[in-house]
Amino acid sequence: MNNFHILLGSFFFISVVQLEEAPVRRWNGKGTTPNLQSIVLGRCYDYIETVNPLVGKKNCSEIWEAFLKAFVGKDPCTLLPEHYELFINLTLHDIPASKALFWENNKQLVHRYSDKTSRYMPLGDTLAGWIADNLDWCGALGNPGLEYSSCPTTAECENNPQEAFWRIASVTYAKHSSGEIKIMLNGSTPGGAFPVPSFLADYEIPNFQRGQVSNISILVMDEMDGPDIDSGKVLWILAQNEAQSLSHSLIWGCSANLSKQGSAFINTKPYPLTKYFSDSAKASYF
Ligand SMILES: *[C@@H]1O[C@H](CO)[C@@H](O)[C@H](O)[C@H]1NC(C)=O
Ligand SMILES: *[C@@H]1O[C@H](CO)[C@@H](O)[C@H](O)[C@H]1NC(C)=O
Ligand SMILES: *[C@@H]1O[C@H](CO)[C@@H](O)[C@H](O)[C@H]1NC(C)=O
Ligand SMILES: *[C@@H]1O[C@H](CO)[C@@H](O)[C@H](O)[C@H]1NC(C)=O
Ligand SMILES: *[C@@H]1O[C@H](CO)[C@@H](O)[C@H](O)[C@H]1NC(C)=O
Repeated sequence: MNNFHILLGSFFFISVVQLEEAPVRRWNGKGTTPNLQSIVLGRCYDYIETVNPLVGKKNCSEIWEAFLKAFVGKDPCTLLPEHYELFINLTLHDIPASKALFWENNKQLVHRYSDKTSRYMPLGDTLAGWIADNLDWCGALGNPGLEYSSCPTTAECENNPQEAFWRIASVTYAKHSSGEIKIMLNGSTPGGAFPVPSFLADYEIPNFQRGQVSNISILVMDEMDGPDIDSGKVLWILAQNEAQSLSHSLIWGCSANLSKQGSAFINTKPYPLTKYFSDSAKASYF
């Protein structure tokens, strides 16, 4: 009898210790980035003071509070884009005409190219995108309401805090883009340069505003010595869909190769899309 009780006691003791020291990894995504608050506040001040002071006065404490409030203490599978509406309102600023740059599957290149808003302003170079870039975050029921061990991926649950954030951020960014819109795609992507579903296809292109957008310029970048898998198909899909919804727009495109360092576009040549296309390929060099 006594032995049994001692055994039972040790068993409980061990269980408790194990639960505290090795939490079960519940989701497949990374947990909340440590020091999230300091990172968000620091990035916010960095953006408004040094990266893009043209955005004017913004209250970074209020922005952090709006961000946190969207998901803290909540089941991380119940987040909707609207939960970030206050954050989006507080971070909103103009995207200069013809500075918008959309992309899929070439993030590093796009950001090197945009050069912290000096050449273009992709979503990641707006205040909202700058703050959240490469961060992970999600809430949990109860206190302290943040989950540091793991966060749900979109495959595990669609209504997760990061997916909801990037959806409203993408929609807002697309709605505020004007003038000449650039789309930079990766012509060496195995599944095709224009992935569907994607943020570009699902949340960005459908939200371009008729009357604000003068034309769309599509750059399909191939890896140097890499395959040009289907730039033609991409352009036709975009041209056919978008020419209808933005019928005034001139749609043109060109395909270009990347240097090994990705530091220059070389061998640019117009993609033969004569119906929509002005035959001078005006790819930007950098
Ligand atoms: C900024 O927002 C914080 C938190 O909402 C508030 O306490 C503070 O007074 C605001 N600062 C300014 C200058 O408006
Ligand atoms: C955000 O701004 C829009 C447009 O000004 C407004 O209708 C909406 O109520 C605002 N939402 C929040 C949560 O502040
Ligand atoms: C384009 O896609 C290929 C294949 O996935 C990848 O290896 C390459 O790094 C991508 N290029 C850029 C600029 O991201
Ligand atoms: C696209 O629009 C921009 C700005 O409105 C203009 O400067 C540019 O010439 C246009 N490009 C083409 C190819 O029509
Ligand atoms: C890019 O390089 C590949 C391989 O060298 C070549 O087949 C393709 O035609 C080039 N594309 C352009 C636009 O120059």
